[in-house]
Amino acid sequence: MAPKLLITRKLPNDVEARAAVSFDVCPNLTDGLMDQSALLARAEGVDGILATVTDRLDASTIATLPASVKIIASFSVGTDHIDLEAARARGIIVTNTPDVLTDATADIALLLLLGAARGAASGMAAIRDNTWANWAPTGMLGISLTGKRLGIYGMGRIGQAVAARARAFGMLIHYHNRHAVKGQEDATFHQTLASLLAHSDFLSINCASTAQTRGSINAQTLAALPHGAIVVNTARGDIVNDDALIASLTTGHLAAVGLDVFNNEPNIDPRYRTLPNAFLLPHLGSATQETRNAMGFRALDNLDDYFAGRVPRDRVA
Ligand code: DGY
Repeated sequence: MAPKLLITRKLPNDVEARAAVSFDVCPNLTDGLMDQSALLARAEGVDGILATVTDRLDASTIATLPASVKIIASFSVGTDHIDLEAARARGIIVTNTPDVLTDATADIALLLLLGAARGAASGMAAIRDNTWANWAPTGMLGISLTGKRLGIYGMGRIGQAVAARARAFGMLIHYHNRHAVKGQEDATFHQTLASLLAHSDFLSINCASTAQTRGSINAQTLAALPHGAIVVNTARGDIVNDDALIASLTTGHLAAVGLDVFNNEPNIDPRYRTLPNAFLLPHLGSATQETRNAMGFRALDNLDDYFAGRVPRDRVA
């Protein structure tokens, strides 16, 4: 008998078609978000759950999952929506989807760097509102990337892909990571976040959301950035303190920000919408057809491995 698999959201057609070959699929036909009680009810009797970042698999949800659930395969590289300790305590396997979204997410980081540095939000508003008076030698001036220092906070797969792209724009790479990364010898490694920030004209946040990084971009750390710096975030919103970031933008300490991720998505802090120097995207990091297919296939690979008695390649708990 095929294992029973709850798929919590609508997935790309090709992924759903493949899932139906190996699994007895319980789909979410409306694609609506499930709260804890809906998730628990839908999980009754299933062997595995293919979950996404919109599912809150916190300690109490995991503790209450039916005993039939043996594996949670997340359709994401980030696992901050899943309490891994709670899963370990119940012997539930957890997997993620690394690698396949690295390039797409790094592309969005570059879009944010350029969009923030070149005032794309105000420029687009001038076109849409029909307020573009004329081309002016001193009008709508942005900041060049060329020759500037890009600080990368978190030099994992995505951080390294951002670095590769930024080098092509003539940027000088600095980074802070738990340890220096092999292959990044032409970049400057900083032992501390404070040191990285003091040497960053641009900051790209690429670390995972963990107990150590959550809230680490705050009033104190932002003050360490040079005046006029630009911050972009493609990692997780909770690494940033919104009050501090918005205050830095309002005072002009930061010239601009580019954000693809937010606290409390999709109900973002409404003040961001009013800031002309904020270039904002709705969590599009992995949102290409190719990448979302690859994420789905990777999650299914992990499930196939588990149900065939192999260790899933992307096991994180
Ligand atoms: C992830 O995979 O963690 C992204 O945030 C969603 O694409």
